[in-house]
Amino acid sequence: MSETLLTIHDLFQYAAMIAVLAAIWEGFRGGLGPRVFDAAGWVLRIQLVLGIIVWLVNSGWNLGAVQGVIHPIAGVAAVGAAEIYTARGNRVTDGSGSRTKGMGFAIALALVIAAIGLAEVA
Ligand code: HEM
Repeated sequence: MSETLLTIHDLFQYAAMIAVLAAIWEGFRGGLGPRVFDAAGWVLRIQLVLGIIVWLVNSGWNLGAVQGVIHPIAGVAAVGAAEIYTARGNRVTDGSGSRTKGMGFAIALALVIAAIGLAEVA
């Protein structure tokens, strides 16, 4: 069970990358439609929940500083950046909301790449 969840969490990194890249594209270029932001937000949230479950099931506090602490912090920060900037983007009324969201997903991309890199450090 925990192996399966880890495999899903592992494979989901590709969904996270694709979704975040699409959201950045929508933010700065447009054309894909605003639902791309929602989809990317959900993909990141699902990856977060999978990560938390894998962490709890695998006694994450025993996995060491990198995989047990820094990787999760990078993942949580990625989701947080996307959430905060998406909310800000929804509040602006001057038409710059998509760029704001794109900025949030750009920060999320950097943190997702960091999280993936850190997960590979064994
Ligand atoms: C949102 C961005 C995230 C991405 C892209 C991501 C990606 C990955 C990848 C690629 C692995 C490697 C799997 C393997 O070596 O087989 C992994 C492992 C892991 N991740 Fe994440 N992760 C993210 C967030 C999180 C969060 C938020 C947590 C916990 C709260 C978490 C907990 C873990 C744990 C516990 C492992 C297993 C380490 C081990 O047992 O070797 N991840 N993650």
